[in-house]
Amino acid sequence: MVKVNVGGCSSFVKDAEYQKYVEKALEAFDVLQSETGAGNDFLGWKTLPVDTPESLISECEAVRDSWKAKGVNLVIVIGIGGSYLGAKCAIEALSHSFVEPQTKVVFAGNNLSEEYLSELMDLAETRNTAVVVISKSGTTTEPAVAFRIFKEFVEKTYGKKEAAERIVAITDAKKGALKTLSTQEGYKTFVVPDNVGGRFSVLTPVGLLPVILAGFDARALLKGAADEREALLRKDAANAAVQYAAMRNLLHTEYGKAVEILVTYNPKFTYLAEWWKQLYGESEGKDGKGIFPASVTNTADLHSMGQFIQEGSRVMFETVISIANSNRSVVIGSDAQNLDQLNYLAGQHVEHCNAMAQLGVKVAHIDGGVPQIEVGIERINEYNLGAIFYFFEFACGISAYVLGVNPFNQPGVEAYKKNMFALLRKPGYEEQTEAILKRI
Ligand code: PA5
Repeated sequence: MVKVNVGGCSSFVKDAEYQKYVEKALEAFDVLQSETGAGNDFLGWKTLPVDTPESLISECEAVRDSWKAKGVNLVIVIGIGGSYLGAKCAIEALSHSFVEPQTKVVFAGNNLSEEYLSELMDLAETRNTAVVVISKSGTTTEPAVAFRIFKEFVEKTYGKKEAAERIVAITDAKKGALKTLSTQEGYKTFVVPDNVGGRFSVLTPVGLLPVILAGFDARALLKGAADEREALLRKDAANAAVQYAAMRNLLHTEYGKAVEILVTYNPKFTYLAEWWKQLYGESEGKDGKGIFPASVTNTADLHSMGQFIQEGSRVMFETVISIANSNRSVVIGSDAQNLDQLNYLAGQHVEHCNAMAQLGVKVAHIDGGVPQIEVGIERINEYNLGAIFYFFEFACGISAYVLGVNPFNQPGVEAYKKNMFALLRKPGYEEQTEAILKRI
């Protein structure tokens, strides 16, 4: 289970203040649970861990097995934002960092870089390739562009009929361009439920199918999320999501902390931070409010961002992902010459050094004026990843309600699109094209 420790904030806040924010978080908990708050038609994610039928997992596994039978060894997952970050995070966390897997899962449609797409094409040309295209709306430009390119590639390489068996779409049940195209072309489709927003969709087929295709255990992911849900249903001050939501709102509202840095000491979790940034950034950053979500991966970033965090503008607090146990073991050896003077570490696990770095940084940053919340898990695996996904989602709902915003919309995401469409000369945007060109 996910554990929260707010002890690293105690020298910055008064206990009575924290209790006041716990009360606010408990009120927000009620709003979330009674489904009476803003955006309450997007709460389908709350019960995904217990509602997801076994048949959905079997359907995903059937895709995996049929592609395996064809010898597929490259799956291109096309999507952006909530339609890729959860899967990317899970696969990065669970995969071997260096050894090539049997089926490589890569991502596209999350940028508009021609070099990126062209280099991915280089890879696809040497592999046996299949495509998963994910878009809830079915109309997002970045994945639509990437899909047009890779659809053509798969059709040219394998023929139109075979291509239809190598493309799976995850989209709305009824509407959108991707749904229409899938029906027309006969693609296998999975549904993003209407009542689950993109950034809360990691436990739908959006996250589950890529995780299964990459060879990981989606049942364990869901079980971890289900057990975490069970723990978070308890309405009390010891509820981990309540504690996290209370402390981050207190630090923000009463102490002016405008930036939250998610800190990890394991590079496998760099994409957990990317997923978390979207979750909190899109859910809370609106109406002129919100905490800016940033991230660092230590110890690497201690040698880049460490200076700023220690001594720069005092605008931030840290949330550290603490992992109790490493899945691997490497012990530092002894050296007769000891020129590097590391013999004092001989016999120690590398992870012990990592833990001491984490502790040393904690004390230094607290001394430097940076409060620290700890979010702990036992080790990286599917079960704990499911738990941490659910924890952050649930805490996000509570936290945004404490802040006073609708956690489940993202009106600001639209703002750049009309300018981009106008500049790309999309039919219907002519007037805006002229207006924009006058300004640049
Ligand atoms: O959280 C969200 O809703 C967004 O980030 C979407 O996931 C993102 O814009 C992609 O949208 P779509 O799945 O409709 O292509």
